[in-house]
Amino acid sequence: MRPVFVDTDVGIDDAIALLMLLRAPDLTIIGIGGVDGNCPLDAVMRNIAIVLDVAGAAPIPVYRGATRPLMGTRPTFDIVHGDDGLGGVAHHFGSPPANHAPLPAAMALVEAARATPGTLDVLALGPLTNIALAFLLEPDLPRLVRRFFIMGGTLTAQGNVTPVAEFNIWADAEAAKIVLKSDANITLITWEATLAHTIPWPTWQAMLAGQSHIAHFVHAMSSDLAARCRTEWGYAGMPLPDPLAAAVLMQPEGVRQAYQCRVAVETQGLARGLTVPQTTHQAPANIQVVEQFDPTIWHRMLQRTFTHES
Ligand code: RIB
Ligand code: CA
Repeated sequence: MRPVFVDTDVGIDDAIALLMLLRAPDLTIIGIGGVDGNCPLDAVMRNIAIVLDVAGAAPIPVYRGATRPLMGTRPTFDIVHGDDGLGGVAHHFGSPPANHAPLPAAMALVEAARATPGTLDVLALGPLTNIALAFLLEPDLPRLVRRFFIMGGTLTAQGNVTPVAEFNIWADAEAAKIVLKSDANITLITWEATLAHTIPWPTWQAMLAGQSHIAHFVHAMSSDLAARCRTEWGYAGMPLPDPLAAAVLMQPEGVRQAYQCRVAVETQGLARGLTVPQTTHQAPANIQVVEQFDPTIWHRMLQRTFTHES
């Protein structure tokens, strides 16, 4: 079984990504770190517990992480995921017991990597604060972790917070700079990859029309966001950034088009959160940027997740 550590700011798409991973037959989530992002950390930690409860998952250690970015204060931005991070429906799912382990998330990631040298995959679904702290705590992390699968960035200026910045990078640009400047093996699933793999609205509705407990949960938490994506922002289909990153981690052989580069991050001024692809002979092009993922595999993974009875 492939060991995976997930760092997340559970919001709606993070929740779907976790549900996908929990269904994967060949991997085991050895830890989940919570990070402030889509909603405050306390809500993130409650939401992780709700997702694990809805999925009927076996106990997984969950670790509290950063309550704010490395520099400055919590980002203020348009509430996309609802005040509770789950589309306003978190209160329908109670407060399941959380298996909160005492270690801070960054240290838990370091311990997990030291315990599984060269075999651990990390899925980063929120601002990279915990990941950056882990890099600072364990300089050998790039060798210990097999690959970091990161949802973040926009390399062709298709930002979703500013014209040039995607939320996970923008929310903690200093952390993103530390992580992306490292020599770690990184696979980056960007916002433009997300837009290239939206789920057409009729398909999305059909996926959630089933009677499974999971389909009901996903429909309940995502219906308002889906309506905004369709009418307010005019997307051709449901954007699912974190689930796409999870799909790439689960089946990397499904990547149909990608390129290698380094990525520079701007941390200052109007262009804060800007991510720029760079090719340089002074350092390895360590970042695989995913452009195309097999749509059949992608849709089948989601369908399998939503039809699962927990
Ligand atoms: O820009 C998309 C990312 O920001 C996703 O991870 C979403 O959950 C939000 O955190
Ligand atoms: Ca997220």
